[in-house]
Amino acid sequence: MKTLKIGLLGLGNVGTGTYEILAMNAAKISALTGCEIVISKVLVSNINKKRSLNLPADLLTENAADILSDPEIDIVVELIGGIHPAFDYMLTALQNKKHVVTANKAVIATLGDELMSAAAASNVLLKYEASVAGGIPILNALSTALAGNEFDEIVGIINGTTNYILTQMTDFGLNYDDVLKDAQAKGFAEADPSSDVEGEDVAYKLSILIQTAFGLKIPPLSIPREGITKVSKDDIAYASQFGYKIKLLATAKKNGSTLECHVQPALIPVSHPLASVSNEFNALFIKGNAVDDLMFYGKGAGSMPTGSAIVGDIIDIARKLDCLPCCLTPQISAPTKLIFAGEGKSMYYINFLVADVPGVLGKVSTIFGDHGISIESVMQRSKGKSEGEDVPVIYILHESSRQQLDPALAEISSYPFIKEVRSILRVEPLN
Ligand SMILES: NC(=O)c1ccc[n+]([C@@H]2O[C@H](COP(=O)([O-])OP(=O)(O)OC[C@H]3O[C@@H](n4cnc5c(N)ncnc54)[C@H](OP(=O)(O)O)[C@@H]3O)[C@@H](O)[C@H]2O)c1
Repeated sequence: MKTLKIGLLGLGNVGTGTYEILAMNAAKISALTGCEIVISKVLVSNINKKRSLNLPADLLTENAADILSDPEIDIVVELIGGIHPAFDYMLTALQNKKHVVTANKAVIATLGDELMSAAAASNVLLKYEASVAGGIPILNALSTALAGNEFDEIVGIINGTTNYILTQMTDFGLNYDDVLKDAQAKGFAEADPSSDVEGEDVAYKLSILIQTAFGLKIPPLSIPREGITKVSKDDIAYASQFGYKIKLLATAKKNGSTLECHVQPALIPVSHPLASVSNEFNALFIKGNAVDDLMFYGKGAGSMPTGSAIVGDIIDIARKLDCLPCCLTPQISAPTKLIFAGEGKSMYYINFLVADVPGVLGKVSTIFGDHGISIESVMQRSKGKSEGEDVPVIYILHESSRQQLDPALAEISSYPFIKEVRSILRVEPLN
């Protein structure tokens, strides 16, 4: 039986999961691929670190060249993370005619084209299923089983940390700061959580999803983006009274010849399947013009679920090795005439803090009307407030653009009875 040699860059969470899956399911993987898959070298930053795996003494190295320049290594699996040196190692591996598998959303979303070109020039494969939604095989599904569709919409919960925080705030009425601390203590959030809670991680993943599904390259940091740091437990409670849950959504929606996309916390109806996706779970809701509505649900992170996607990519490469060279050309995005159109129109939830004086609701409603924005519902919460104390007023508005909404809010805020615009959140009808 042919032996396929793997060089692993990184033996942290995902590297360890990948190592374990290849050992645990070795017999099945050999039967599927006709190859014995062997991890022949593993790059780490500290060779003396204590590890959970029992490894052969000579397996680890701190020298990347031991893998990248070893002619015997067929596939390089990059699980270091970050842009550099991960990108440089992958580029060298591809130039040295090694197939590359990675879970690195930051590199694929920002420098993926350069790696794709290097892969094409060397006639090798670059695969990155694990870079979006961990164990959920979404990229493969979009580019193979669902490739016969034109996609109208992708809406996803694709960050487990923020979904865990919002779920805990919703289920237990807790504050953002308290839940974040708890999540950090339990290892669900990083010590520096900014990439997750500010929506950057989701923007990377959405950029990769858009390129795969719609063939449009949008730099991740151009995607309109807002994180969850301003979502309060009051917003969550008010949203629930209107029949919604608040989730951090990655949205890409076709509108005629344009593609609207954004990463934002949004109210979704409790009846929508995405509303019941809790804690660290991820889900993606897709509308295709042939398949209609589809939902993918599963673990979007973690050692073994992410390792599962990595091993799937390794198996795919192993199966194609003896095929015609055309099988080894990288996946090419579908041609598209779509134009990136930013956020697009939406319904909005607005949480004002106002002085408890007569006529406020009428005045605010009139100003919205003057700007062509109609109101779906309004709720004033004076319960528990003493006389003269400021009170929250919550509006759910019908569809408008930010070009309409922002001047309306500026005019409303100029009145002294408006103490604060506390939150502006999108409302997704998601019918
Ligand atoms: N964790 C998840 O659930 C998850 C889910 C989806 C995607 N991903 C992606 O998977 C990748 C790996 O994530 P992870 O959570 O497994 O990371 P991790 O636990 O931090 O592990 C990183 C590994 O890379 C090694 N390393 C770091 N910098 C290095 C350098 N400059 N040279 C050599 N080795 C270096 C570390 O060595 P030492 O062991 O010696 O410290 C460690 O083994 C990232 O791109 C991440 O975004 C992770």
